[in-house]
Amino acid sequence: MTAVDTPATATPVLGRPVPHESAVLHVTGAALYTDDLAVRTPGLLHAHPVGSPHAHALVEHLDPAPALEVPGVVRVLTADDVPGANLASAAPDEPLFPREAMFHGHAVCWVLGESAEAARLGAEAVRVDWQALPAVVGLREAEAAHRYQGEAPHLERGDVEAALAEAALVVDGELDAAGQEHFYLETHASLALVDEGGQVLVHSSTQHPTETQQVVAHVLGVPSHAVTVQCLRMGGGFGGKEMQPHGFAAVAALGARLTGRPVRVRLSRAQDMAMTGKRHGVLARYRAGFASDGALLALDATITLDGGWSIDLSQPVLARALLHVDNAYFVPAVRVTGRITASHTTSQTAFRGFGGPQGMLVIEDVLGRAAPLLGMDPLDLRRRNLYASGQRTPYGMEVRHADRAARCWDEVLASGEVVARRAEIASWNAAHEHSKRALAVTPVKFGIAFTFTAMNQAGALVHVYRDGSVLVSHGGTEMGQGLHTKVQQVAAATLGVPLDLVRIAPTRTDKVPNTSATAASSGSDLNGAATRDACLQVLGRLREVAGQCLGLAPDEVLVADGRVTAAQGSGGAGMTWAELVDAAYLARVQLWAAGFHRTEGLHWDPATMTGTPFRYFAYGAAATEVEVDGFTGAHRVRRVDIVHDVGDSLSPLVDLGQVEGGFAQGAGWLTLEELRWDTSDGPGRGRVLSAGASTYKLPSLGELPETLHVTLLDDAREERVVGGSKAVGEPPFMLALSVREAIREAVASFGPPGTSVDLGSPATPEAVWWAIERSRDGGVR
Ligand code: MTE
Ligand code: MOS
Repeated sequence: MTAVDTPATATPVLGRPVPHESAVLHVTGAALYTDDLAVRTPGLLHAHPVGSPHAHALVEHLDPAPALEVPGVVRVLTADDVPGANLASAAPDEPLFPREAMFHGHAVCWVLGESAEAARLGAEAVRVDWQALPAVVGLREAEAAHRYQGEAPHLERGDVEAALAEAALVVDGELDAAGQEHFYLETHASLALVDEGGQVLVHSSTQHPTETQQVVAHVLGVPSHAVTVQCLRMGGGFGGKEMQPHGFAAVAALGARLTGRPVRVRLSRAQDMAMTGKRHGVLARYRAGFASDGALLALDATITLDGGWSIDLSQPVLARALLHVDNAYFVPAVRVTGRITASHTTSQTAFRGFGGPQGMLVIEDVLGRAAPLLGMDPLDLRRRNLYASGQRTPYGMEVRHADRAARCWDEVLASGEVVARRAEIASWNAAHEHSKRALAVTPVKFGIAFTFTAMNQAGALVHVYRDGSVLVSHGGTEMGQGLHTKVQQVAAATLGVPLDLVRIAPTRTDKVPNTSATAASSGSDLNGAATRDACLQVLGRLREVAGQCLGLAPDEVLVADGRVTAAQGSGGAGMTWAELVDAAYLARVQLWAAGFHRTEGLHWDPATMTGTPFRYFAYGAAATEVEVDGFTGAHRVRRVDIVHDVGDSLSPLVDLGQVEGGFAQGAGWLTLEELRWDTSDGPGRGRVLSAGASTYKLPSLGELPETLHVTLLDDAREERVVGGSKAVGEPPFMLALSVREAIREAVASFGPPGTSVDLGSPATPEAVWWAIERSRDGGVR
């Protein structure tokens, strides 16, 4: 036993601004991703899809024989090879090897080759007799053809018609906003290996290893215990790897099973963009009523999402759109109906915000259009309609801590010197005829939890080894968002050991089973809490041992910074963490534990769309200044100030990165990224036209604000969440609505006072230029 000083103050591990746990690996290029593991695997086979050249077609006949003549081709995988279910998804509407191609590029079979090139040539050689069928491409065509899928949810509170009849102003409008390509830097990738007992190991770039495991097991016709899925890390997921990796993993697993060799599936960028789902484009039609003082009275809206060819996650995405149509504003009377179109394009899927951005876009569009018509400053109009404490959302949930939305708002006004800068902008605009500036503020309120209540659970497995080092396995996946860093901090803080004593293991379904997707921003809430639970179990046992060693009651033992002492008083007898762990081992005390967490207090009735679907709301506000050029419609974001509520931050650097990244990605969606499908009647009908970085403009450093100030809201502890923290992954995405609103206000300045601007989305230079033209003519009345 050693004498150990009680540290005067233990360095807090939670809330410490540490770099991402893989930061050095990321920036040196040493970090490995799924496909790096694949290309190092001896005996590897490469898979290449045979994609449909039509947006909609029947496979009349498929002849793999010519492919087998190609040197290096090993096997062609078709529906006949599937021992289990021919399914690519957890939903029943996606065959792995379809007989009917439902979109341009839809893979109908896969060729395995000794090299990627052999597989590609083989795929070209497969003979397919196609019977082209009529195709419906995109939301508008689907709407005209009345092609919908899934349910049409309905959210209603109060008497909308009566409220609209009383309103001093009713604005009605139509909002058509494009979807978004995820453009994760790492495209979809899987590597499957089969061992001597037939056990399948799939490395997959997946946000949902358990569901990948389930789908692979179904396809192979084996129990889940015969399949292990591992995700080391992803080079971004952004929702695009929540439901869509399963089919690629299944192809790799089937190939490995049939050939006995490792099989790699990795999409090229062009394939990934052509084959995988995106953010849902949205068409909303609305009527909104205001009192003469600007109070929102009623909102009546129909929100139609572009579902694509299969249902995927479109229903929960649509539900979340409906639940966020209020954003941070109290609307007494609400009636919103949602619909999902069915058409012959990729199947749209989860994307950061999960429908929330589409819903919030509607109310911000309403407010942005209404302010000039009410003769009000948009700033005042938004501020006066923010939720007050005690008010409830349209689905009946109390808006707890509503004052935080207002606090974020008021603080960003102060830190962004908004009032003074708007005065400067007014005189600048008066002096400049051909370019205009504007500064807009928008709030965010985003609900945290999965709306499907069962998914709000998580597990963790914490091993303390005899040398005192700690290995944590948990159910969440790392995609750059810093979840592993936060969990590492939670484990170190709970156990009272230095951060570098804790390592996070790659996510594996054989370590922690039945996990939920790492999604809905709940990764650290759920897996952090499960990890804490496991750590507390081990710590409880270790305190007993320490108490015996030090002659103290277990609750008098303090473990901090890797030292074990009496909680009261300084100095005296103590021991190191490693000594304690070794003593516990010799005393035959279990040094590992499985932890579990489920979020309490959630209930949701999808039939009536009422209940408490969220654990809490994350709040924020952004003040964005733009300058718009009247000749070109191009804009520049001059300055952005953000105040965002992450509760008590678990990891401030990680959280800042999430706020900045989310904002940039949101600005990309709203102003730059233009997803286009070929809707012509030519041979390319249904093809994704923007299928590469050359035709799809992503935000780069040049488009980012010249000045970007992010402040995390002070004094924002959230009770009963790990470390008092709040989720941060998605909410900041929607802070970018302030960019769109600033552009709208700048465009209005080209017209006479009171001009209400109808702005296309994304607000590309072309869309902005047209809006300026309309503005000069007096705008929409
Ligand atoms: N940040 C990075 N760097 N890469 C990502 O893929 N995905 C976002 C967000 N932030 C993502 C990201 C999405 S869509 C979600 S739901 C959350 O991270 C998921 O992780 P979390 O629950 O641990 O926040
Ligand atoms: Mo995020 S869209 O919930 O993966």
